[in-house]
Amino acid sequence: MLYDDFYVKSLIQTVEDWPKQGISFRDITPIFSDPKGMRMVVDAYVHRYISTDITHIACIDARGFLIAAVLAYELQKPLILVRKKGKLPGKTISQKYALEYGEAELEIQEGAVNTGDNVLLFDDLIATGGTLFAAIELLTKQGANIKEVAAIIDLPDLGGSQKLRDSDIPVFSLCAFN
Ligand code: PRP
Ligand code: ADE
Repeated sequence: MLYDDFYVKSLIQTVEDWPKQGISFRDITPIFSDPKGMRMVVDAYVHRYISTDITHIACIDARGFLIAAVLAYELQKPLILVRKKGKLPGKTISQKYALEYGEAELEIQEGAVNTGDNVLLFDDLIATGGTLFAAIELLTKQGANIKEVAAIIDLPDLGGSQKLRDSDIPVFSLCAFN
């Protein structure tokens, strides 16, 4: 289905002062409850990544999981979960980080990716980029190449996408909110 920016943006709800005073929270929940919106979003990524040398799709807990799982299924690629601390069994490596409204720690399982893997890293939204940089650190520590970071929403005023590009990491987002 052809991507319609106006349609997808009209599904995203802005909630002021949540989860903290001063934050304009961009809520993607309505995309998931709208089959047409869901198909448009997934198809846009399928179209972009179907003929690439991406070998793995990594995604970030929790909202990043939802689209990435469908994309991995469509592209028939392994899906790697980058999770909030304490959720993954076995040996893990972890990375603390700051995001727009707090601090957290991400983990991946040891051996989840290997040297030479070409990873598409997916999250729902880029704000300060703190979350994505932490995930990139975990994946590259294990030898993976980050081929591109993909998100539904970019908040360019918060600088994350520019920081990623300044670090020579390609970034693709479907829409932006200023
Ligand atoms: C949100 C969002 C991104 C991150 C972006 O995650 O899903 O992962 O913030 O912010 P940043 O660019 O400033 O790091 P959150 O930790 O709220 O998790 P959730 O997906 O579990 O709701
Ligand atoms: N994650 C970080 N900042 C966010 C925002 N403004 N809306 C939704 N998710 C976010």
